[in-house]
Amino acid sequence: MLIRHRRSWELPESAATEESVFWNRRRVLQAAGMGGVLLAGGWSGGALAQESILGSGLYPAERNPAYTLDRPLTAEALATTYNNFFEFGSQKNIHKRAQDLVVSPWDIQITGDVEIPQTLSFDDLLKRVDLEERLYRHRCVETWSMAVPWTGFPLKALVDMAAPLSGAKYLRMETFHDPEMAVGQKAGWYPWPYVEGLTIEEATNEMAFLVTGVYGKPLPKQMGAPLRLAVPWKYGFKSIKSIVKFEFTSQRPRSFWQATGPREYGFWANVNPAVPHRRWSQATEKLLGSDERIPTLLYNGYAEQVAHLYKGLEKEPLYM
Ligand code: MTE
Repeated sequence: MLIRHRRSWELPESAATEESVFWNRRRVLQAAGMGGVLLAGGWSGGALAQESILGSGLYPAERNPAYTLDRPLTAEALATTYNNFFEFGSQKNIHKRAQDLVVSPWDIQITGDVEIPQTLSFDDLLKRVDLEERLYRHRCVETWSMAVPWTGFPLKALVDMAAPLSGAKYLRMETFHDPEMAVGQKAGWYPWPYVEGLTIEEATNEMAFLVTGVYGKPLPKQMGAPLRLAVPWKYGFKSIKSIVKFEFTSQRPRSFWQATGPREYGFWANVNPAVPHRRWSQATEKLLGSDERIPTLLYNGYAEQVAHLYKGLEKEPLYM
């Protein structure tokens, strides 16, 4: 991963608009007993040709007020055009190429050390969870950051669906692998598919969030449609996109970036301004859309929610 400096097309901070959402369309439909019929009928106008038809009726979801920000939301136009998605290339402007991603049908496999192994479609998964919106900070290891209104549900809900066995200590997640669709996957020097992992304690922490939407809409392809992770106390590379497989295992997973650069990227990757990357400082970050560099916070500001997860693990490389 390279550090990249601001380009002329990036929006100024003043262009950031907060898209407030105050009601949950899904609950309204459920209360009215209309469920999927109305949704399939195209409540949102059928604008999303390839997206989940069911999913398109679920946004915006009600905002969970427990998750607040200390900075303005990043402008949607900026967050959706400045992306890391190496499956479609190593530049930040892969949003056009990422439109090649076929997101429907999308099957998700839940496997490994679980009582209830299953494969379910993305639409079926949506029927089994309640969506909410959360405002999260998002800090890339490259030192840029955003503030994003994700829509999704706690990862713990998926863990509960799987009912892990006692031997399951880790959750390994995998992105699709299809070099014909995703041209970046033809780059043979990367260990495709993209893989990430969490401990079960991390995966069931309240902050670990599975994302299906952003800015009050279904997730755009370049941000990891239809299903991605957001673990905001960790560097952004832990937040794996376009997930097709969740595997519960006794073995610590080796992640895509660990396999690519083991001296620079580790399993834990918790944000810490005091521990530099081997090639640059992590003390500050560039808030996208602003000329400012601001101090980076320990655990990206989420110490209260997650610091306890790392008690007794001080000898581990927790910050790379
Ligand atoms: N997931 C996959 N499958 N492929 C990727 O290249 N990049 C990671 C992470 N998840 C990546 C991925 C990195 S380095 C970051 S910073 C975030 O996605 C970027 O998310 P964003 O583009 O939505 O800001």
